[in-house]
Amino acid sequence: MSARLFSKLGHFLPPESAHHVAIRALKSGLFPTPAPFHSPRLQTEAMGMRFPSPIGLSAGFDKNGEVYREMLGCGFGFVEIGTVTPRPQTGNEPPRIWRLSDDEAVINRLGFNNEGADAMDARLPQGRTQLPGIVGVNIGKNKDTEHALEDYLPLLRRFLPKASYLTANISSPNTPGLRDLQKREFFESFTRALRSERDSMVAMRGIQVPLLIKIAPDVSDEELETIVGIAVQERIDGLIVGNTTLSRPDTLRHADRTQQGGLSGAPLMALSTEVLRKTSKLSQGKLTLIGVGGVRSAEDVIAKIRAGASLVQLYTALVYQGFGLPTRLNRDLDHWLEKVGVKHLSELRGMDVR
Ligand SMILES: Cc1cc2nc3c(=O)[nH]c(=O)nc-3n(C[C@H](O)[C@H](O)[C@H](O)COP(=O)(O)O)c2cc1C
Repeated sequence: MSARLFSKLGHFLPPESAHHVAIRALKSGLFPTPAPFHSPRLQTEAMGMRFPSPIGLSAGFDKNGEVYREMLGCGFGFVEIGTVTPRPQTGNEPPRIWRLSDDEAVINRLGFNNEGADAMDARLPQGRTQLPGIVGVNIGKNKDTEHALEDYLPLLRRFLPKASYLTANISSPNTPGLRDLQKREFFESFTRALRSERDSMVAMRGIQVPLLIKIAPDVSDEELETIVGIAVQERIDGLIVGNTTLSRPDTLRHADRTQQGGLSGAPLMALSTEVLRKTSKLSQGKLTLIGVGGVRSAEDVIAKIRAGASLVQLYTALVYQGFGLPTRLNRDLDHWLEKVGVKHLSELRGMDVR
């Protein structure tokens, strides 16, 4: 069965059931993963690592670290697993995911449903050098934890020896109060605490583990300026721009557009790329940027790179285009670069940042 047909069949099921079937099929090896495509034009050096492709799988698809190996096998240059919280939690009441098929979008209000840190830990090899590729761990807090650092610091300590990089997710719209961590009064002490813990752990072990922060595309210009200023000052390695949006563009057509939750997919492309461009301008090359939101074609990847991203991630387009997508994007990108005579994708980085 082709990857695209498998994804089309999935649309006969409610979104969350389709997701469970896909994870089970990937785990059991029943699902034929397409042969990855590699090209030196796409290899990307970032944060001290060499990414075979700049296109990664965004957090939320593999929340429990069950299929990172298989997703790398589909042609992703890196995979971000999680968001993982210290304790398992069930998340919000279903239904909590909607496919807005007319808009190639998804709205979710899952609320960090995940099996918790022990389960994820057990699925990762003892050390990061044994990972099958670049695997980032995205960490978050349990819904009922009052002081966020009480969850983020233990998660950082636990997964630092096991992950290629760590992402602190402070931008999910479905955990009450989480996005407040982006405000100056929390953000400065939060990033400082995480970064200094990371620094002392890596110094002890003599390894490098980049620390990224994932932000919302809904931050105001003023908030973004504060976030970038503090991230640079606190020597955070990079920002992921960004999570789902609470906004609802006028172009949305599907009846479920009014559902509460975070919107992702095609309608998020313009907004998230604009925030990325502003982030790039403010950070002046001092942060590694990962562009996420609405990527579904090679043109979208190029737009994110031109807006200042070193790497990109996607999730929602997989729902519509199936697991052959990363390989297709890698091939399309490579053909386009060859056609226009660009030796390496990174030559385009930041071209649109004035
Ligand atoms: C169903 C679903 C679950 C998600 N769960 C998470 C999550 O657990 N942690 C996180 O950082 N982002 C999560 N995201 C956000 C994605 O990682 C990504 O930032 C966002 O969807 C925009 O990218 P896209 O338009 O390519 O989907 C989730 C997105 C979707 C659609």
